Amino acid sequence: MILLGIETSCDETALAFVEGKGDRVRVIKSLVASQIKIHRRYGGVVPEVAARSHALALPLLLKKILGRERERAFDAIAVAAGPGLITSLRVGTDAARSLALAFDKPLLAVNHLEGHIFANWLGGRIPELPALALIVSGGHTELVLVRGAGDYLLLGATRDDAAGEAFDKVASMLGLGYPGGPEVSRLAEKGNPEVVPLPRPMITSRDFDFSFSGLKTAIRQTVSRRPAPKRADIAASFEAAVVEVLLAKTMAAAKVTAPKTVLLAGGVAANRALRKALRNAVKKELPGVRYAEPSLEYATDNGAMIAAAGYYLARAGRSNDWRDLEPSAQWEIGV
Ligand code: KG4
Ligand code: ZN
Repeated sequence: MILLGIETSCDETALAFVEGKGDRVRVIKSLVASQIKIHRRYGGVVPEVAARSHALALPLLLKKILGRERERAFDAIAVAAGPGLITSLRVGTDAARSLALAFDKPLLAVNHLEGHIFANWLGGRIPELPALALIVSGGHTELVLVRGAGDYLLLGATRDDAAGEAFDKVASMLGLGYPGGPEVSRLAEKGNPEVVPLPRPMITSRDFDFSFSGLKTAIRQTVSRRPAPKRADIAASFEAAVVEVLLAKTMAAAKVTAPKTVLLAGGVAANRALRKALRNAVKKELPGVRYAEPSLEYATDNGAMIAAAGYYLARAGRSNDWRDLEPSAQWEIGV
């Protein structure tokens, strides 16, 4: 079964063809048109500009991916229907609905976070379930128990900023570019994480929730101190604090839920320090538990992860009707 995956929830217009066979998926082609350059001059994503850019980019990307074999190329359409910016989501879902009608193909509404989870299935290895997923992106920070496609339990979430959002805001305080995550982490590699003492918000709270806004405030105060510490040391200290909190909560949740796999998902899963720390912690503290992370290519937003999630949802018997598929900006999973 070949699925066309469509992703337009934030600032990447992305399409992919993914083939699903048995319990495996494989990427045939993945195209991502990033709007980063457009949003960079505003220092963040401007919703109206994003929607307009999706509307301009999507037909061109479709033409590119469909090529000549239009009707035969795919068996189903999977589209990210939320959460995200509603006007951006609508561009993708309306395109998906039109394609489903025109080509008479089944349609699958995929949750964007579910897409991030299933990015872990694209590397060839199948994570064993149940899996504990740490989802860290620009808009979300959540711990979710994955029991199957469409079967999730939300264990905890951030009460304020998402981890990626904190990286982006700290980047801007340090005078780095947008998106900030990769830049902060590059700078952090040259710094000493022990120079700036920072809080570890909620690390001892007995739930699985997070909070990153206090950390952001602490960085703002640090930056304005005179003399201010070196930027690389601030970046390294910030990254270490975020990683330590994410790690502590994930390990605590794993001890309670006893998953077969701990997996990392979302744009911040591209962070090398976090990947290494979580990989080592699972190995050391959770004997018999597997660790999975998405390849760097499929950690940040893409269409292949949406198509992969769509495949497993279809296998689980899900489908949506083109007549009434509505995007939902606040769609949560596992609640
Ligand atoms: O999942 P994603 O591509 O988009 C959303 O769904 O939000 O995640 C984007 C987020 C941004 O906040 C970006 O700064 C962060 O992921 N990010 C990183 C890294 N690469 C991307 N954060 C830390 N380290 C990275 N290497
Ligand atoms: Zn995302």
